[in-house]
Order: sequence, then structure tokens, then C-alpha cells
Amino acid sequence: MSPDKSSAIAIVDSGIGGLSILKSLHSRLPYEDCYYFADFKGFPYGEKNEAEIIERCFNITDFFMDKNIKALVLACNTATVAAITQLRNQYPLTFFGTEPGIKPAVQSSRKGILVLATRYTLKSAQFNKLLTQYSGSSKVISVAAPELVQLAETGDWDSQNSQQILKSILEIHRGSFDTLLLGCTHFVFLKEALQKLLGPDVNIIDTTEAITSHIFESLKKQNLLNKGQQAGKLKVFFNGASEHNKGLVKKILHNEKIESFDLSLLHD
Ligand code: DGL
Repeated sequence: MSPDKSSAIAIVDSGIGGLSILKSLHSRLPYEDCYYFADFKGFPYGEKNEAEIIERCFNITDFFMDKNIKALVLACNTATVAAITQLRNQYPLTFFGTEPGIKPAVQSSRKGILVLATRYTLKSAQFNKLLTQYSGSSKVISVAAPELVQLAETGDWDSQNSQQILKSILEIHRGSFDTLLLGCTHFVFLKEALQKLLGPDVNIIDTTEAITSHIFESLKKQNLLNKGQQAGKLKVFFNGASEHNKGLVKKILHNEKIESFDLSLLHD
């Protein structure tokens, strides 16, 4: 069955990170049905190897193939750099990805850019290609921060403890950058705490808005925007989620009516 305007948009991440994109999409495109796949069983993607990440993304795409979706958003930098090319080659579906915004960071920076991302993203050929393509003469410091992925998942984003963890990662680079680039969707939840720590002189860049606009424009061009009058449905598919994980997802989506499904035995 080929997708039409009423088909849903699938959004995928290893945990809560992609909810930043789901929320932004849902407020910009309120009539779209959005299906969020939270692959807690595969968390954290950033510590996995390429074959493992690709396999998970293929399994998740297979899961969505009979669910009448018109696009799948990899709301995860790690999954995007690892798997989007293979997914596009393999499935007759529109895929959107999430990549660190090197270009806007270079435009914003005078002094230097600090990129925070997962270990996998920073090692990937795709990220390094972006750096070569866009960084020009800017000084770029890349820091792998798996601790911050874990911190985001605690939901304890702005406590003394979280400030200490953020400090321990950023302190030694203090003064060498004026732009902080968030290269992992999980870090969007730490943005306020990061701004508090770094002060107003550091510009923090994430790509949530840019991705949302890109999806909007692209669906519009394909004549696939749902212009219905009814609010879109939100469904969350939990894979291997603990009670804490589920509680945090529901807290983040607190204003929204969601239907949730527990897939804890699927996709090992
Ligand atoms: N949210 C994912 C990203 O943007 C990564 C988190 C993980 O390591 O699972 O890269």
C-alpha cells in the first residue's frame, strides 16, 4: 500500500533523545499521526558497532513496514551516520536523518566549536566528512560524552549532580570555544543546564528546528502533508523499556494524549 497524506510519520531513537524531535514535529504538524519507537533494548547506540546499529535500524524499519507510514525519521545522530544510506538503498520509503549542525556552528563561531556527541558518531566516516566539508578554518574540539547520554536518561537534568557531571566534561575546554554543538538528540534535554553552566556568551546549537522544517518542506513538496482537522494521534512503541524509562517518556510528553505499546520481547 503506498503512503498518502493520512499515513503516519515514524520517529526512532534508542531512548528519550528523539522525543525532542517528536515534540517539535507534533507542534509544527499537529494533524500528523506520529509513531515513536523507543529502542531501550538497544540503548546506548553510541557504544555499539556499525553492524549492530544497522541491524537494529533494519529491524525497526521492518516493524513499521506494515503500519502505513509515509516517512521514517532517524531522530538519532548515531543511527543516521551508521545506517541511513543503507536504509535508503534497501527500502522504498522516505528517510529523514539527524546530523550535527556543523555548518550553522561554523557560522556562529569566532573562537571555536565544541561538539558533544556519542563515541560512534565522532568516529564515523560521515561525521568526519561533514567536518572536512564545512569546518573550514574553524577550530573544532570533539568530545565523546556517553555519560551525558546516560545522564539525559535519568531525567535528572538540572540538579547539582548533573551540573557536576557537565562540569567534569566541559571544564578543561572552558574558554576555548564560544559555540557548543549538540551532536546527539539526548543532549537537547540538557540544554538549559548546559547554558546555565556555560553562561550567555556560549551559543548552543542543536538541529531540532532545522530538521522539523526540512521534514515539513519535504512532505509538502511530495504533497503528503496531512491537512485534516483532527489532532494527529501519538503512539509510542517501547522496546525493552523499564518502568523508569516509560515514566520519563510519559513525563516528557505530559501534555499529549498518547497510546503506548510494550514490545519488550521484540528485537533483541
Ligand atoms: N540519541 C542518540 C544520538 O543522537 C544516541 C544515544 C545513544 O547512544 O543511544 O546519537
